[in-house]
Amino acid sequence: MRILLLNQRAFMATPLILRSVARRASLSFFSSSAFKWEGGVSMVQGASRGIGLEFVKQLLEKNEKGHVVATCRNPDSATGLLSLKNKFSERLSIQKLDLTLESTIEACANCIRNKFGSLNLLINASGILSIPDVLQPETTLSRVEKSSLLLAYEVNAVGPILVIKHMWPLLKVGGHSQTKRDVAIVANLSARVGSIGDNRLGGWHSYRSSKAALNQLTKTVSVEFARKKDPIICILLHPGTVDTDLSRPFQRNVPEGKLFTKEFSVQKLLGIINKAKSHDNGKFFAWDGQEIPW
Ligand SMILES: NC(=O)c1ccc[n+]([C@@H]2O[C@H](COP(=O)([O-])OP(=O)(O)OC[C@H]3O[C@@H](n4cnc5c(N)ncnc54)[C@H](OP(=O)(O)O)[C@@H]3O)[C@@H](O)[C@H]2O)c1
Repeated sequence: MRILLLNQRAFMATPLILRSVARRASLSFFSSSAFKWEGGVSMVQGASRGIGLEFVKQLLEKNEKGHVVATCRNPDSATGLLSLKNKFSERLSIQKLDLTLESTIEACANCIRNKFGSLNLLINASGILSIPDVLQPETTLSRVEKSSLLLAYEVNAVGPILVIKHMWPLLKVGGHSQTKRDVAIVANLSARVGSIGDNRLGGWHSYRSSKAALNQLTKTVSVEFARKKDPIICILLHPGTVDTDLSRPFQRNVPEGKLFTKEFSVQKLLGIINKAKSHDNGKFFAWDGQEIPW
């Protein structure tokens, strides 16, 4: 209230001519929300590097139209995104979003609401498996730490669901979307190791269980969207083992031909996203389109 009064006082003290410029600027800012963005608006969360960055690249390069909102923790040091911004200045926005700070998720949703009015595709591409001196995938129960379990759960499961919660009112069918979708799509990057039915090796307690939680939360949201007849579908995607910072320390035992490039994996995943229909809501797909058991 005090801030509001101070703002009003400052506004009244501004010369009349400047006040009218400010009013026009704010009107054009807000009226842009009525504009339908040709080609649709896609958001890639966790876009600073790895699979997320590759999603942004392919969404921009493979479609002639459409806007991409790429989010990351530190936009100023996201060099991959900044070089894409040089090339696609009109079609790419970079927004700050840290999954562990809900206020940044809310602020990002407000920005998208004000600038675009709606969102047609949301890809949660972030994730953590190991962080030097902080988080190590456990090889035995005796190495399990409360702090690791909670951190993996916070970033891999809680964060993406809060993103869906805040973007939900914006998730609508795109008027001019090139993919001619009749539903908005939420795609969460999960991992096959999050499957309980497929768990034969054990280990990686924090990562496995956080991805299993992400799967359950996403499935639960998908049921609610269907019950409310919201034209939104949620899918979970396993990208395969992909050559990124996340997998690098664990690539030694990957069989020959089973380590994918980001380009290959994202091309496959976009194929699944672009073909997704209402009957796919709540399903968990591998990169090759095969369903993965829970
Ligand atoms: N690579 C694989 O083999 C593989 C296999 C199965 C599943 N996946 C899944 O695929 C997804 C992408 O993995 P990747 O290989 O691309 O990993 P990556 O190269 O390590 O990239 C991880 C991304 O997550 C972001 N991130 C981490 N903590 C965050 C936070 N608190 N808030 C917002 N963003 C955060 C990172 O941002 P910063 O740059 O700020 O750290 C980075 O952009 C993950 O969900 C992963 O579990 C990967």
